[in-house]
Amino acid sequence: MKTRITELFGIEHPIIQGGMHFVGFADLASAVSNAGGLGIITGLTQKTPELLAKEIARCRDMTDKPFGVNLTFLPAFTKPPYPEYIAAIREGGIKIVETAGRSPEQYMPALKQAGIKVIHKCTSVRHSLKAERIGCDAVSVDGFECGGHPGEDDVPNMILLPRAAEELNIPFVASGGMADARSLVAALALGADGMNMGTRFIATKEAPVHDNVKQALVAATELDTRLIMRAIRNTERVLNNANVEKIVEIERQKGASLTIGDIHDQVAGVYPDIMLKGDMDAGAWSCGMVAGLIHDIPSVKELIDRIMSGAEEIIATRLRGLLSGNAAQVGRAA
Ligand SMILES: Cc1cc2nc3c(=O)[nH]c(=O)nc-3n(C[C@H](O)[C@H](O)[C@H](O)COP(=O)(O)O)c2cc1C
Repeated sequence: MKTRITELFGIEHPIIQGGMHFVGFADLASAVSNAGGLGIITGLTQKTPELLAKEIARCRDMTDKPFGVNLTFLPAFTKPPYPEYIAAIREGGIKIVETAGRSPEQYMPALKQAGIKVIHKCTSVRHSLKAERIGCDAVSVDGFECGGHPGEDDVPNMILLPRAAEELNIPFVASGGMADARSLVAALALGADGMNMGTRFIATKEAPVHDNVKQALVAATELDTRLIMRAIRNTERVLNNANVEKIVEIERQKGASLTIGDIHDQVAGVYPDIMLKGDMDAGAWSCGMVAGLIHDIPSVKELIDRIMSGAEEIIATRLRGLLSGNAAQVGRAA
């Protein structure tokens, strides 16, 4: 399948693995790229630019296909040294960067001078248009369903994607709630040029996280995520657990007077314990509603092959069958 995204990034399938804190290591990124998608290393999971340089080199040893690096510009307690991270990206020969959070505008010259293609993750049409205006090559349109930070507008992808298609000239991928062949075909039908998956890629054999995390995703339903940090305009969708219930209760009591200090222990620095040690109650961790569509732990290649062959099947059989008026034989796409 060829789309504007496969052409832009030189990849076989229009499937991207979004940056994920303490998940997006070289092991997962290389597996996704080797399977024909676009794997992405999460830049800030590497504590220093030197460590990021090493992780890029490790990934290059594991794949000769294109892969990218995620740079997240979120409100942090101490601002990471972004220019140094960008230097590590440039010197590592990376040609694709996924930016997220705040606008990447001030870093665009440094990225573009190195011939890097930038895909910015946006949760609204207005931010997507800004990304287009400042020279981003593509956007990842992240709907309200998504794991991580869905923004503050709460517009689900059924509306957000066709709205993005109405306004944008640059290519975009659908992000948030994407899990399988049905997601890809739906995303393409709504005007996207491919899809970005986060949560689904955690439940794969190659994701370098504790098995407890993968089992938690298989066990979770679409009802098991919660939104936290709305009062401080840093909304995050996370999987429910004992600490998340504590956060929700603190937020209920504090209302608009909530500060990050009130929930610091439940949200800051908890990822290593969750992702690496498998302590599922250590704190809040990002997870999409799409957990309800995750029922197994395939290899990355099995997952991507299944999505691509399933998408062809849906388009060639189910959709074409509907056009030919053969409803009874078309059945359901499950
Ligand atoms: C555990 C986890 C950690 C994430 N960490 C980041 C991150 O550090 N930077 C970022 O830009 N997005 C991050 N995301 C968001 C993903 O890149 C992606 O946009 C999102 O997961 C898409 O929604 P989905 O989970 O429904 O597929 C994270 C998502 C998850 C599930």
